[in-house]
Amino acid sequence: MTISSSKVAKRSSPSQWECIECGHVQLRWSGQCSQCHQWNTLQETQVAAEKRYQGERSLHRHQPSRPQRLCDVNPVEVERIPTGLGEMDRLLGGGLIPGALVLIGGDPGVGKSTLLLQVSAALAQQGKTVLYVCGEESVAQTSLRAKRLGLEGDRLFLLHETEFGAIQAQVEQIKPDLLIIDSIQIVYKAEVPSAPGSTTQVRENAAEYMHLAKGRHLATFLIGHVTKSGEIAGPRMLEHLVDTVVYFEGEREQQYRLLRVIKNRFGTSDEIALFTMGERGLQEVKNPSMLFLEERSEPIAGSVVTPTREGSRSMLIELQALVAETPFSTPMRRCSGLDPNRLALLLAVLEKRLAYHMFRCDVFVAIAGGLRIQEAAIDLALLLAISSSLRSKPLSPHTAVVGEVGLSGEVRPVSSIESRIKECGQMGFRRLILPKRNLRHIQKELLSSIECIGIDHAEEAIDVAFGNR
Ligand code: TYD
Ligand code: MG
Repeated sequence: MTISSSKVAKRSSPSQWECIECGHVQLRWSGQCSQCHQWNTLQETQVAAEKRYQGERSLHRHQPSRPQRLCDVNPVEVERIPTGLGEMDRLLGGGLIPGALVLIGGDPGVGKSTLLLQVSAALAQQGKTVLYVCGEESVAQTSLRAKRLGLEGDRLFLLHETEFGAIQAQVEQIKPDLLIIDSIQIVYKAEVPSAPGSTTQVRENAAEYMHLAKGRHLATFLIGHVTKSGEIAGPRMLEHLVDTVVYFEGEREQQYRLLRVIKNRFGTSDEIALFTMGERGLQEVKNPSMLFLEERSEPIAGSVVTPTREGSRSMLIELQALVAETPFSTPMRRCSGLDPNRLALLLAVLEKRLAYHMFRCDVFVAIAGGLRIQEAAIDLALLLAISSSLRSKPLSPHTAVVGEVGLSGEVRPVSSIESRIKECGQMGFRRLILPKRNLRHIQKELLSSIECIGIDHAEEAIDVAFGNR
């Protein structure tokens, strides 16, 4: 009797399975989400209750709009508000835009609250009103942190509240220029019948803050924890909704924190900003090359410096390789911060085109400092680092290397070569090995600061680097 009644109840409100990472909905449970391929992220939700709620909301909100001719629309150049933190402004494309909704994601403890508290205080000092909703910590905790960081400001308001209606009421009263929600996983809407942090709550709340931001021309930051365990809904499913998405990269153990823009409706994406975490919170890194090269000492085999491009700037990084003969039949290939497929390709090029015997060797490669780099322009430097370790012969400490390597070992040109050359020159490098085809487009004045040696093939690069030519 009990069983049949529960079956009836289930039939009246059918279940669906929703991915807490990307928000994808499917009718059956599976261990892996079929859209984002994350494991154990599907959570059961009730279709009926959610649909009913969404229906009510859309009736309440909808106001029909009319199409306009493109020539009749007058685009207004919005004025950006500088945050006071140079790196943050560059990251956002020149400052905050009133009405923009920015999502800041990252692992717990990486420094999201610290950064936004610093941004809030900097803005408050310029006379802007800021409302910082610290839902995760008490007002006393947050003010203690502000004191430790030496931050103050009579225009910075802290609010320990989590319910949307109450927060909205405070926004209407205080009329801030900037609103910070720390975090989107802790706030909730009383009308939504699910727990804070669930997919429905996170999505509904984010939509509400978007309406609030657009309606009041209020710049808003949403903080979101990136979750690996899958307990709470992740910020990835909000990426399509917000104007700008910024993620913290870098481990908590590392001293630096890297912020990367994944999406920006008001600027370029893929821009990065670098900070170091210290006693006084997050400090801007003005010269990233210096940060990543500071641990270099004597020239050692397997280490090569390359100018890489991140967003709109170039910086020098050190690639490290260790090649060791192995007694086992299956050699190990390990890389940290690099694409394992690129490593496999370069090892195949070394084996097949340059007659190196890589199949007997374990190969470990890494980027010093724990950075992650995806661009193919670091190929040639990585190939030379492997070759250098295998020969136990270091490159000159004043030589940098750049270029993409193709399947036949040919070296292809890279983008933004002038900015890369300039960075090498500024950091005191005297020689750059680069793709020959890039040399055609370089201004003559640049060549006076550093010797640029153009090469067409990886073999040529090895000859130049190890002094055979
Ligand atoms: P926090 O901003 O609370 O992280 P999140 O909001 O992303 O969870 O940062 C917490 C970490 O930062 C914590 O491990 C301590 C460290 N930290 C410093 O090293 N220096 C500082 O001045 C502050 C405020 C925090
Ligand atoms: Mg926090």
